Amino acid sequence: MDTRKRIFSGIQPSGNTHIGNLLGAIRHWAARQTENDNLFCVVDLHAITVYQDPAELKKHTREMAGLLLAAGISPQHSILFVQSHVSAHAELAWILNCVIPMGWMSRMTQYKEKSKNRENVSVGLFDYPALMAADILLYQTHQVPVGEDQKQHVELARDTAQRFNNLFGETFTIPEPVIAGNGARIMGLDDPTKKMSKSSPRAEGVILLLDPPDAIRTKIRRAKTDSLSGIVFDEGRPGLYNLLVIYELVTGLGRSEIEDRFTGKGYGVFKNELAEAVVEYLRPLQTRYAEFTADPARLDSILAEGAAKARPLAEQTLKLVKERVGLG
Ligand code: TYM
Repeated sequence: MDTRKRIFSGIQPSGNTHIGNLLGAIRHWAARQTENDNLFCVVDLHAITVYQDPAELKKHTREMAGLLLAAGISPQHSILFVQSHVSAHAELAWILNCVIPMGWMSRMTQYKEKSKNRENVSVGLFDYPALMAADILLYQTHQVPVGEDQKQHVELARDTAQRFNNLFGETFTIPEPVIAGNGARIMGLDDPTKKMSKSSPRAEGVILLLDPPDAIRTKIRRAKTDSLSGIVFDEGRPGLYNLLVIYELVTGLGRSEIEDRFTGKGYGVFKNELAEAVVEYLRPLQTRYAEFTADPARLDSILAEGAAKARPLAEQTLKLVKERVGLG
């Protein structure tokens, strides 16, 4: 029996890719590649839901692809492509727009947060989960590995698939979100009550994947903690807890081992060790990234090949959808 699963996930090319993206999502994509059929997508159509400078968007899209390759996404095992290169995404999104009830979309917490006090947000920002559902459903996806903040959107994609199948007959595979237990919600270093975010206006709370070592050291040294003593995993101490989770994930050590290591030691020692561990964790990724981006023609050909492989899969589903709906 074939137990291989179809995996799909996406990431926005908005620049500022950070350690939360890596620990919550990208590292899981890379780790399970050989067991499954994977598609990983740089979602430029999602990025333009807020204004992007055109030249920067183009640059960030290539950079994002370079980062994914540097983080271990292998074109041999995964289809890596850019969303706007496969026009079926936008086309299916329109059809799903006509199936998804307004009420479902209005409940999306990310939209509510992002649109707060802003009259001039784009229609695209509101509609963003419909495009995300199209991304997922086009490839008959079984599993969608994402960080905690995207869970609600993947559930909307699942509900949309069910609704469409009920209305028009079996068409879509029902996808499920896969959320890593640990690291699925890395918090800001400057404010451990808010998730680390690409759009955070406070750069000091965000460790970027391409930060030079000294920037990483400074940010970790300044990370907000408390005045209690003892380096222990205690969710009631959110600043310390977040740093310890990062330490745990980048070193691969167990929790009790970590607590033993820092018994009788203070924040100074812990933060120094954490900073060095993060620097070493990101070093090979940064080296590989420099190699990939030094050869833009190769990067573009990997993306062109990815789109060429994704397109027929997407078109097959779109054709079926159109038949089901009665288009054409
Ligand atoms: P994006 O680009 O905001 O984030 C990419 C991935 O990183 C995860 N993530 C985090 N994980 C842990 N801690 C954090 N602080 C943190 N911040 C972000 C996100 O959960 C995500 O998995 N809409 C999506 C992109 C998308 C997509 C899709 C994903 C478009 N189509 C289809 C899955 C399937 C987004 O903006 O992710």
